[in-house]
Amino acid sequence: MATAFTVNGKRVEVTTDAETPLIYALRNELGLRGTRFGCGGEDCSACLVIVDQTRRCSCTYLVADAAGKSVQTIEGITGNIADILREAFVEAGAGQCGYCLSGIFVTAHELVAGKQRPSIEEVKKSLGRHLCRCGAHAAILRGIGKAIDAVDELGGYRND
Ligand code: FES
Ligand code: FES
Repeated sequence: MATAFTVNGKRVEVTTDAETPLIYALRNELGLRGTRFGCGGEDCSACLVIVDQTRRCSCTYLVADAAGKSVQTIEGITGNIADILREAFVEAGAGQCGYCLSGIFVTAHELVAGKQRPSIEEVKKSLGRHLCRCGAHAAILRGIGKAIDAVDELGGYRND
């Protein structure tokens, strides 16, 4: 039986077994290969996606649970803030092999696109569940910091 949900604003129906983790339907059936499989046990966040505004590990979140919901993957994160963040990552040399970056980008975009300027403590706390085996955390943090500064300079945050 097919499971229907929305991915990056488009309604889809997948035939991947409903008891299978969502990442397999995203990558293998829908061809959305930006979401990465790491630990398979909610320890690295490489597989992070947004489901109905909540961050979920797609390595354990089942296809059945996505039925009728709205899923956003890295491919669906577009627009000015995403462009600023991507550029800042490149400038900061954030990442080496890049395997962890899809999940980190999902979290970082949520932070940078918020209404108020996030503090470095908030950034570090949000990234706490993301593992990077290359040890590129310092450069990744620099990249996110650059993006926050760029959005701030454009007047993108509230002051209250
Ligand atoms: S692959 Fe999902 S948390 Fe590591
Ligand atoms: S850049 Fe290689 S795992 Fe993070």
